[in-house]
Amino acid sequence: MMRAARGEPSSRVPVWLMRQAGRYMPHYRGIRRKVGFLELCKTPSLAAEVMLHAVETLKVDAAIIFSDILTILEPLGFALDYVEEKGPVISTPIQSFDDVRTMPELRQIDPLGYVVEVVKETRRSLDASLPLIGFAGAPFTLAAYAIEGGSTRDFRRVKKFMMCEPEAWQMLMRKLAVSVATLLNAQIAAGVQIVQLFDSWAGCLSVEDYRIYVAPYSRMVFELLTPGTPIIHFAAGNSAILPLVAEAGGNIIGVDWRISIDKAWDKIGAQLSIQGNLDPTVLLTNREIIERHVQHILKLTERRAGHIFNLGHGVLPETPVENAIALVEAVHAFGTRASMSQ
Ligand code: CP3
Repeated sequence: MMRAARGEPSSRVPVWLMRQAGRYMPHYRGIRRKVGFLELCKTPSLAAEVMLHAVETLKVDAAIIFSDILTILEPLGFALDYVEEKGPVISTPIQSFDDVRTMPELRQIDPLGYVVEVVKETRRSLDASLPLIGFAGAPFTLAAYAIEGGSTRDFRRVKKFMMCEPEAWQMLMRKLAVSVATLLNAQIAAGVQIVQLFDSWAGCLSVEDYRIYVAPYSRMVFELLTPGTPIIHFAAGNSAILPLVAEAGGNIIGVDWRISIDKAWDKIGAQLSIQGNLDPTVLLTNREIIERHVQHILKLTERRAGHIFNLGHGVLPETPVENAIALVEAVHAFGTRASMSQ
C-alpha cells in the first residue's frame, strides 16, 4: 500500500474500500443499536473496534479512522445532527457575510481531541504492517454542508453564495482550509501513515468555477500539511475537473467510476498515483460479475505502479458483506504482478 501510494512498483495491487466500516456490516448495526452515530465517533474504543472488525472481516490492505468529515463543523460553531433516513442536518447554516465573519477557526485540536484518541487507539490495535489513513472533508464539501444545511441534489444555495458573496466565500474557504489542516496535522502527529481529503461534492461545479472558487483552498490545505505523509485527493462526480484536482495537490488522486481508469490516469498525469474506481453498485451483484469488473479495471491499469484499488465512492448500505469480501479476494487473486503480466 505504501509503495503504491508513493508510485513505486509493488508485487500486488493493494485494496481498501471507502466506507468499509458502515451500515452494511451487521457488527456495525449492532453497535449502532446501542449508541448514536456522533457518540460512536466520540468513543475511541468503539470507533477503533468498528474499523478493526471491518479490516479483519474484509482482509483489506489499509484501515481508515472511523469518524466523519462533518464533525469538524461542531467546534466551528454549527449544530450538527444525523437523522435516520435523512443523513446529516446542520440546523444553523451560514446565510450571510456576518455568519462567516463570526465563525471561529480551528487552530488547536483540543475540541476534536477524540479524533486524536481514535487515531492512537486504532493504530495501537492495528496490524503493524497495515497503514492507517486519516481524513478530512475538503473546504468546498464542508462549505456546501455548512451553507445548504445538509445533503442536497442541486447545490443551489452554496453556488449562489459562492457567486454572489465573493468576499464572504474567500473568508469562509480560508477559515475552513486552516481548520482542516489543523485536523489533518493532528492526525499525522498521532500516527496516521496517509491522509485523504474528501471533496465529495466538487463535481457539481463547472471546470471554471472549480478553478476559481475551490482549487486555491484545497491547495492551501496541502501547503499547510506537515510534509512527508502521502496525500489522497478525492473528488467525485465530474471527470472534467480531474486535471485541476491533480494540479491542486495530492500524491494519489481518487477517481469515481464515471470515467475509465486509464483515461483518468491520462488526465491526472503518469507521475501521480491513482485510487479507484469500481462502481459501488457492482457490489450488489454476485462474485462472478464482481470478478469480471475487477479484471477489467486491472487490465486497464496493467503493470503501472501506483494503483490503489478502491470503489469510486463509498460502500452502499445494502451491500452483502460476502460481496465486499469477494471483491478484496478478487483484487488479491488477480492483482499480482505474475497474473497481471499474463
Ligand atoms: O469506513 C469509513 O470509510 C470510515 C468512516 C467514514 C464515514 N464517513 C462514516 C459514516 C468516512 C471516511 C466518511 C466520510 C464522509 N462523510 C463523506 C465523504 C465520502 C463520501 O461518501 O462522499 C461524506 C460526504 C460524509 C457525510 C455523511 N456522513 C453523510 C452524507 C452521511 C449520511 C449518509 C450516509 O451515506 O451514511 C454520514 C453518516 C455516516 N458517516 C455513516 C457512517 C458509517 C452512517 C451513519 C449511521 O447511520 O450509522
